Amino acid sequence: LEIYLDSADVAGIKNLCPALPLAGVTTNPSILAASGIGLHELLTVLTNVIGPQARYHVQVVSNTLEGIVSEAHKLHALPFDIIVKIPAHTAGLSAIKLLKIDNIPLLATAIYNVQQGMLAALHGADYLAPYLNRIDNQGFDGVGVVGDLQTLIDRYQLPSKLLVASFKNVNQVLQVLKLGVGAVTLPLDIAQQILTTPATDTAIEKFSQDWQATFADKLSFE
Ligand code: E4P
Repeated sequence: LEIYLDSADVAGIKNLCPALPLAGVTTNPSILAASGIGLHELLTVLTNVIGPQARYHVQVVSNTLEGIVSEAHKLHALPFDIIVKIPAHTAGLSAIKLLKIDNIPLLATAIYNVQQGMLAALHGADYLAPYLNRIDNQGFDGVGVVGDLQTLIDRYQLPSKLLVASFKNVNQVLQVLKLGVGAVTLPLDIAQQILTTPATDTAIEKFSQDWQATFADKLSFE
């Protein structure tokens, strides 16, 4: 299981990174535009924060077949572990088919239904990103789409890993983990909620009070 943060907020990522088994960071054009930082600078800073093993999913902004293919090659040439995100629309699926001939690591993004995911998987996309909450918001069943896609990938033994995106609560994350997906990308607020257990904090506070009442600043082994 790979866990990513879906963010370009360096301070937020730095805050959460030490307590998370973090594979890397996913972005999209909206996330990068909100950060205002150029890609090379951002990835350099994030690599210092996360470590040299960090993997980045970075989306093309071109919308034509030629533009996507050219942009993907340029992203792939950058000195970072970059998976090129390509939208699973007609031009994007055509680009995925071409780029996999050159073995460029790819993620098919903005997946709203099973058939889109299947086509990208049949073209050899390394990752598929279904947009769980956005599917729910359209009146469909996001978890159901993820489950059906995972079932078909397993049944046809396709090489793609599901990297589920667009979460709005922790329960959605737990539901797709139970389906056996290969990766999830979490907004910072959801990752923070996963790390936060007030009952544990309360229990530890009571242990500290009891200990200090008898042993003051002594440590456990003293
Ligand atoms: C993944 O990288 C997607 O772009 C992202 O998770 C979409 O999430 P949103 O629906 O919260 O914008």
